[in-house]
Amino acid sequence: MIASADFNITQVERSKLHSLSLENIPFGKYFTDHMLEADYENGEWKNVEIKPYQPLVLSPSLAALHYGQAIFEGVKAYKNTKGEARLFRPADNFKRFNISAERMEMPKITEEIFIEGMKQLVKLDANWIPDKHDHSLYIRPLMFASDEMIGVKPSGKYKFLIMLSPTGPYYSAPMRIYVEEKYVRAVEGGVGYAKNAGNYGAAMYPSAEAKRKGYDQVLWMDAKEHKYVQECGTMNIFFIIGNKALTPGLDSGTILDGVTRDSVIQLLKEKNFMVEERNISIDELVAAYKEEKLLEVFGTGTAATISKIKELKYKDFIMEFDVERWKIAPEIKKRMSAIKEGREDDKYNWLVKV
Ligand code: COI
Repeated sequence: MIASADFNITQVERSKLHSLSLENIPFGKYFTDHMLEADYENGEWKNVEIKPYQPLVLSPSLAALHYGQAIFEGVKAYKNTKGEARLFRPADNFKRFNISAERMEMPKITEEIFIEGMKQLVKLDANWIPDKHDHSLYIRPLMFASDEMIGVKPSGKYKFLIMLSPTGPYYSAPMRIYVEEKYVRAVEGGVGYAKNAGNYGAAMYPSAEAKRKGYDQVLWMDAKEHKYVQECGTMNIFFIIGNKALTPGLDSGTILDGVTRDSVIQLLKEKNFMVEERNISIDELVAAYKEEKLLEVFGTGTAATISKIKELKYKDFIMEFDVERWKIAPEIKKRMSAIKEGREDDKYNWLVKV
């Protein structure tokens, strides 16, 4: 046992890293040597420890498995040009995690466990941050209900974990997107703004249907009128129309308040784009496309960063884009990577040393 100022840390005897290449690694498949674990019981967080990455022993009656009180986050760590590990906007994920927790009637996690725990864990496994451009260490904090009892009620006990996974680009190729009119991701008054596991589970079937039709993902529409654009797969979405950038607004509570979404908005403004966060109807997009004003469409997310969309299929109408000629999405992506990787000044104070 190695004593730490805050948490108990037990280190592995030998790192798994020697047996793995960090070149071209698929998203979310490999995990680093250590993880953080904490328990919530009797109204307080306890047993906070960093220890070797290992399986959990769970009861079949575990509440989360039955009723879905489970939330998570996605954060990334990058190495700068001096080789120092830095987290990208972890405070925003911390805030959102607790917003998700509140919506799911789960306890709030403390800043000490979420941020300080994350820093200590990343520091310990910093060798796992790939040096390659556009690669990073994906950080997955999660919390789930750990009562062992199948009565339908908010759990009294919870487990919080942080695991780390070295990763490359998520959707590397430009995507073909199916505008989904039948299934919906979120309803007003629902849980669309929360990062709860069920949102992702419910998206599996429609996404698989879109894949069976030959598309990479769906573009979700609003649940009432099937007319207003929401999110694209697991990402927020942006449309460049003339000198404006449009993205769905957050007021309806159906859109995830993306950290990358917010960063992209700031970088677009830096480039003097007028950014409109509002309802965007599919008819408005089709009209702009027909007038050749819909210039670029891209998704944003922690895992995906910025992903170009080369085709949108709405009913029988297909909008195709010559992504090779785009300027804005590549420029924003380049600027964001340069900030994250320490090649350009972090003027927004997005990066946090571990
Ligand atoms: C993220 O961008 O972090 C996501 O949540 C997407 C996905 C990996 C679930």
